[in-house]
Amino acid sequence: MQVFNNFQLTTYNTFGVTAKAKYFGCFSSVDELDELLEVKEISGRPFILGGGSNILFTRDYDGLVMKNNIPGITISAEDNDFTYVTAGAGESWNDLVSFCVDSNLGGIENLTLIPGNCGAAPMQNIGAYGVELADVFHQLTAFHIKDRSIRTFNQDACKFAYRESVFKKEHKGEFVILGITLKLKKDPVFNLSYDALKRVLNRSNNSELTLKLISDTVADIRRSKLPDPKFIGNAGSFFKNPQVNSELHAHLKSLFPDMISYSFTAGIYKLAAGWLIEQCGYKGKRVGNTGCHKDQALVLVNYGNASGTEIYAFSEQIIDSVFEKFEIVLEREVNVV
Ligand code: EPU
Repeated sequence: MQVFNNFQLTTYNTFGVTAKAKYFGCFSSVDELDELLEVKEISGRPFILGGGSNILFTRDYDGLVMKNNIPGITISAEDNDFTYVTAGAGESWNDLVSFCVDSNLGGIENLTLIPGNCGAAPMQNIGAYGVELADVFHQLTAFHIKDRSIRTFNQDACKFAYRESVFKKEHKGEFVILGITLKLKKDPVFNLSYDALKRVLNRSNNSELTLKLISDTVADIRRSKLPDPKFIGNAGSFFKNPQVNSELHAHLKSLFPDMISYSFTAGIYKLAAGWLIEQCGYKGKRVGNTGCHKDQALVLVNYGNASGTEIYAFSEQIIDSVFEKFEIVLEREVNVV
């Protein structure tokens, strides 16, 4: 088991910011994880790193950073209507999507090209184009760092909500997710509830809808407006879309008739944070080495040498401006360390 000291994390976070881990090690199995936690000189709570695609390091990490590389994508069970697919936490999420699309298993095709690893998917209940992980989630296994036991969490135990789970709040830092199992439809039902997706598919000449066509279309839409972290550092949506009650929604609508919003759950509306930020003049705005992306104001980018603190300070400016104009407090979606 190799443990590195003062390890540079620049290539381990999609923002591409510079930060060092006091100790750094990788694990590909529970045994290796156990071994890593035994390293004597290391104390304090370890930090688990997946694909590094939803994180902003604003400082060096004064402890152990562990990279989860647990592999494997397999069909674990089947019944009449569903196939259960289990993926190791270290597998790339998009590889899992491709596996399911290629196997004609329906449910996660709308989640094509979301960066990150499978183990991070339940953390924030990833979602896009009208689908979220919770819609297909069956269960996960997780390793309790303190008592070294392995536990199973079903859908209810994960307490999924919009970009939320029990692992992001009340059990933050307590568990290492080892693997996830999804329940996928053998006879796929396509989800075209998201306007942008429906519009593009209606325009295409393909008469027959397939999982592959939906997956390819989602990939095209994402590529057309979300920057690829390989070329420009970013962590996807930096903020959540705020949720407001119908009273506040009606009030805002009367002041800003063009405001983009969606009815979410009973009496609750989601506001498009990208629109709110754009109205404050930030879309495409650059400040030093950071800024808002030119096609999607919700995505903060690193133009080259931005530090985590610089990006964080810029996000504070955005929060202040949006509050000044709309009296709405934006909440960060990205995990700030
Ligand atoms: N909009 C603007 N200006 C902007 C950005 C967006 O006016 O700068 C408007 C768009 O025109 C559209 C609406 O806001 O009418 C929503 O935009 P979009 O479809 O791009 O989706 P989003 O709400 O900004 C969410 C997720 C994304 C996900 C997309 C597609 C959150 C925080 N973000 O973004 O997820 O890909 O929907 O489903 O919920 C991520 O979590 O990292 C992520 C990229």
